[in-house]
This record gives sequence, C-alpha cells and structure tokens, in this order.
Amino acid sequence: MTATIIDGKAAAAGVRARVAEIAADFAKRTGRQPGLATVLVGEDPASAVYVRSKGKATSEAGMASFSHKLPDTTSEAELLALVDQLNRDDAVDGILVQLPLPPQIDASRVIAEIDPAKDVDGFHPVNAGRLATGLEALVPCTPYGCLYLLKQQLGSLAGREAVVIGRSNIVGKPMALLLIGESATVTVAHSRTKDLPDVVRRADIVVAAVGRPEMVKGDWIKPGAVVIDVGINRIPTDDGKSRLVGDVDFAGASENAAAITPVPGGVGPMTIAMLLRNTVVAAHRRAAMPDPEGV
Ligand code: GUN
Repeated sequence: MTATIIDGKAAAAGVRARVAEIAADFAKRTGRQPGLATVLVGEDPASAVYVRSKGKATSEAGMASFSHKLPDTTSEAELLALVDQLNRDDAVDGILVQLPLPPQIDASRVIAEIDPAKDVDGFHPVNAGRLATGLEALVPCTPYGCLYLLKQQLGSLAGREAVVIGRSNIVGKPMALLLIGESATVTVAHSRTKDLPDVVRRADIVVAAVGRPEMVKGDWIKPGAVVIDVGINRIPTDDGKSRLVGDVDFAGASENAAAITPVPGGVGPMTIAMLLRNTVVAAHRRAAMPDPEGV
C-alpha cells in the first residue's frame, strides 16, 4: 500500500478561509474585529518566527493582532502585569504567551493568570479540566488540528484503536481526551512504555508526539492505519545543511499506512489555523453569541 499524503496546508487554508468569513460577520454585528494578543519574551529565533507567523495569519483573517515583545530579562511580575492588562482589555479575545519562557519565569503561574475565556492555547487548568470532563472548553490547537485531519480522513472515529505516543500537556494528554470524546479506544504510550512497536502495531490511528526524529518505524504501522506525525525535528544532512523530519519514518510508514501527514506541511499549518479558530470562538463566547459553525 502507498499511503495518501494528508495535505495539512490545504486543510488549514480551508479553516482559515472559514475563520475569515466568521471574523467579518462578527465585525459587522459587533462593530469590532476579534482580537488576538501575542506575547513573546526574549529572543529565541524559532519562537520569534512562530509568533510572527501567528500575527500575520491573524491579520490575514481580518482580525486585530496585538503583538507584545518583552526583553529576556523580564521578571515574572512584569509578565503577570501584562497578562492582567490583556485580561482587562475588551478588544482582546485571545491571549497567547509563547513558550518556552526564560528560566526566571514560572510558565505555569503565567498560564494560570490568563483569563480562561481568553486562553486560546487551551493551556489553563480550567480549560484542561473542562476538556477532561467533557464540558465546553478552549482546546489546545495542535491536538485539535490533528483531530480535524483524522475526522476529515476517517469520518467517525468510534470504536477505532488509537495510540497516542507522548503524554505532554500540550499534545499527548489533550489528544487522548479528544479521541475518547470521539469514542475511539485510546492507548497513551510514552518513554516508559514496554514493547512500543507492538502497542503501535494494533493501532488504526497513530498520533506521534514525542519529539524524537523518525523514532516510529515503518514496520510498526498496521496496514491501513492513519498516521498523524506531530514531530518537527531539525536534523543535519551530509551536505552540512539540515532538514525537517517528523517523529515517524515517513518513507517506511508510507508503505503500510492508508494515509499519513508529511513534515513539513501536515500538522504544522493546522496549529495556526486552530489558533485563529479558537480566537473567533472565544470572541463569540465573550460576546454571549452562539458558537460559529463550520470550524
Ligand atoms: N510553543 C510551541 N508551541 C506553542 C503553542 O502552541 N503555544 C504557545 N503558547 N507556545 C508554544
């Protein structure tokens, strides 16, 4: 079998186009655009690239983008003060504090300070708890994007065997909860899992989010499985340059899978699309309007 390559860029473009329609409708009805504030602390080049592309995508969707850049010497109190200010700013529907933060700042304290109604990352313990208990929540963008691709590919996920590799708060745990919500049978594997290849071999759905280049081998993939690769790992090449690879051996897995996401161009573009989606959803909920449809 040669796998279908799941085009995350195309799916993300579809979500972004729908978000732009919703944002325009919101602006017409309320007299203001939905707004997303991003906060970048320090000079990490990868974080700077991510935050810039989030801001650009926000503007392209017809939303207000508020960009805050703070020096890497910023104290926790200073960052908490900015978060408080954004919590109180009515033009701001979503607040995204880019992680990682410098070592003098406790990220969990900062996340806990964000108004859960504006927590478009879905990282606040209130949103994590709401997702875990099946209540309306803002859901972390990357796993929500993975779920979108899976449902696009498979339709109903009910009764399917899903294996999530990785147990992070940002991807693995919320991914498992979303799959349970879709009535899949879910196993969460991690660094201490015994016989990982055999665990993966029983999966109809594999979501790999471990951050280890090409760790999941092609012969672990059950014929006909759908593989979602969340990893983005930069590895050196023979010519002294580098390239991006996922957590899955793409060429090997493509021989067994029915469908697989590439790296880049798979899950990555979906993360930003879902951030925009969460922002328009947060704007509607804050304005006591029904959730927008079609995203
Ligand atoms: N750093 C890497 N990914 C993310 C993300 O999705 N949200 C935030 N806030 N920081 C990140």
